[in-house]
Amino acid sequence: MTSTTELFHPVISLPEPVRVDRYKRLVGLDDIKTRLRKEAAVLADPAVLTRWAAANHRGVSSDNAAFTLLRDRAPLLLFAGDVGSGKSALAESFGCDLATFLDVDVNLYRLKLSARGTGHVGEMTALIDEAFQKVGAEARIGRTAAGKLQAVTILVIDEADALVQSREASQMHHEDRAGVDAFLAGIDQFAGSGIPLLVVMCTNRLAALDPAVKRRAAATFTFGRPNADQRRQVLSGAFEGFELADETIEKLVLATGERGDGLPGFTYSDLTQRLVPTAVLAAYPDEPITADLLITVAEDLGPTPPFSDVAAS
Ligand SMILES: Nc1ncnc2c1ncn2[C@@H]1O[C@H](COP(=O)(O)OP(=O)(O)O)[C@@H](O)[C@H]1O
Ligand SMILES: [Mg+2]
Repeated sequence: MTSTTELFHPVISLPEPVRVDRYKRLVGLDDIKTRLRKEAAVLADPAVLTRWAAANHRGVSSDNAAFTLLRDRAPLLLFAGDVGSGKSALAESFGCDLATFLDVDVNLYRLKLSARGTGHVGEMTALIDEAFQKVGAEARIGRTAAGKLQAVTILVIDEADALVQSREASQMHHEDRAGVDAFLAGIDQFAGSGIPLLVVMCTNRLAALDPAVKRRAAATFTFGRPNADQRRQVLSGAFEGFELADETIEKLVLATGERGDGLPGFTYSDLTQRLVPTAVLAAYPDEPITADLLITVAEDLGPTPPFSDVAAS
């Protein structure tokens, strides 16, 4: 048996203040957050639908066809899209919102990338089986014998393409193919089981994910680069209190946007992890932050090139 600490990063109980704050601070994801809350609530606790029906469709039985279709889906959510667009940040924080919405505890498990194994025959399959056994055991405790929901378990698999890349890829190692099969078998045990488990996979390379894995997903959420309003929100938030003129922020919003030559604009993380720190350090220790300084920094850095999302060949 592999120990829990070898398979997962430390388990976190949600809600907790740092992640509540991180969830709130994610910009431009309101539509995704709304849809994610609904999908997650219905997958983790099908009883929410029964309560809704009791208020709105009283003639409907709890095992009606529509609810059965929803309930029988695998509890798998895919987060796909550009680098630095909030996939990991949302995957590791939406449990705070879900905990409040359902009024239960949420246990956050994050699979370690090293859980992929070293390529020895049978190793990856065994690791994936064990990971599902462990989160499954935790998730089962989340429902009382009487069926009442007390806790939801979320398993986040970040950089999921490293784990379940397409079995169609020609040079794919036999061991990786076995890993995909183990993953599908693992997630399928939970479809329609009523066990409050959610698996979230994040990837920058949706096209590289195995088609069978993509088909299993109850929902796929697509993340993108910020538009002008969203860049304005991130930048004015970051520089709040610096007393920069509105027109300075506007120039920076433009300088970080799409360019005439077809290059896309800055990603969220280009703004928060590159532009803002670089600008502050360029001014520190002797100068204030000025419009010229900000524009120069933005032009020097430039956006992260788009990730070409093509299936491995
Ligand atoms: N929608 C967003 N709103 C605000 N900041 C964001 C957003 N998306 C990403 N960031 C910033 O970029 C950092 C990296 O984001 P991350 O979630 O790791 O990106 P991804 O997993 O999509 O590559 C975050 O910690 C945050 O500072
Ligand atoms: Mg990420």
